Amino acid sequence: MSARRLAIRQPDDVSLSPEAQAGILTWTKKYPEGRQRSALIPALWIAQKDAGGWLPEMILRAVGDMLGMAYIRVYEVATFYTMFNLSPVGDYHIQLCGTTPCWLRGSEALKEVLERRVGPQNTVSADGKFSWLEVECLGACANAPMMQVSTDVDDDPYYEDLTPEALEAILDAFADGRDPARGPQNDRINSAPEGGPKTLNSKDLYSATQTLKTLPKADKKAKVNHYEWDPKERRATRGGWVDPKRKASPDPKKRSGNLGRDLTKGLVEEDPYKGRPERSDPQVLYTEGATDGAPDDLKKIKGIGPVFERELNEKGIYYYRQIGAWKVADIKMLEADVLTRFPGRIKRDDWVKQAKRLAKEAAK
Ligand code: FES
Repeated sequence: MSARRLAIRQPDDVSLSPEAQAGILTWTKKYPEGRQRSALIPALWIAQKDAGGWLPEMILRAVGDMLGMAYIRVYEVATFYTMFNLSPVGDYHIQLCGTTPCWLRGSEALKEVLERRVGPQNTVSADGKFSWLEVECLGACANAPMMQVSTDVDDDPYYEDLTPEALEAILDAFADGRDPARGPQNDRINSAPEGGPKTLNSKDLYSATQTLKTLPKADKKAKVNHYEWDPKERRATRGGWVDPKRKASPDPKKRSGNLGRDLTKGLVEEDPYKGRPERSDPQVLYTEGATDGAPDDLKKIKGIGPVFERELNEKGIYYYRQIGAWKVADIKMLEADVLTRFPGRIKRDDWVKQAKRLAKEAAK
């Protein structure tokens, strides 16, 4: 960054016009009482336009007085931003971007044109019409190389996708008092690719009747495994996301919803009952062995409380061995009938495995 100083030659008598003062006051009212200095940048911009495209020291002081600021604070801002000119400029003041994207796309050749046609940076051409300055990125990198041209009108258009020939033509137009075409100087539309848009071109996309029927690669069988957030598990699982199917595991790695595992595999929920033969008649679970001795205490199965036990008893389910014999179709039927409030619970708590173990213990 180069040092930017106030002009050595300053006008003797210069002041803000009533219109500029009114504009600055409008900006100051946008900020809370006591924070009027927040309006400094728009105030300097208004003042610069009012003073003919640059900021004499008297004007900087006038702005400082209006905003209740120390003059040095105003100077600090005005000397930092290249959008504020500290010495007189031409009728057409050109800011040419020299930052990397514009440099890669040919800004050096444009500088040569400006040096030849206008003269060195920060000087005004002999006819008073032009001045220029190399600046940092102006935010139009997709259309590099580019320049911004300030005039006494409150309008500072961009000229983009420049070539030396295009720049010469623009300078010729300004010299003749014409208003050359703004924006891209090639066939680019705004910041679309050169030669026209390359994507989203299908007319179908913009049809009001278009409906998306299928996602081409969607795996309809895949189910998302919804991990549960448990703040108490944050340390053990390095994050707190717990796999609901494994949250009883004493091994934190196994409890974790993401630790040490392939995340893409973790997204598909495996069916633990996959491969088991289905019952030919699922209804049999309601009656099988129902009157065979004293009922088991189903509440010993984790996940079954008194309410579930009663509901299961009402369906004729009293014994561990009945539950231990459930197949996929039985569970689906029960979930559609008795356990509608807690879908997936039988599988998650693995009632079948628990019941098998309890049945084995009871038989000893
Ligand atoms: S680099 Fe030139 S506009 Fe961004």
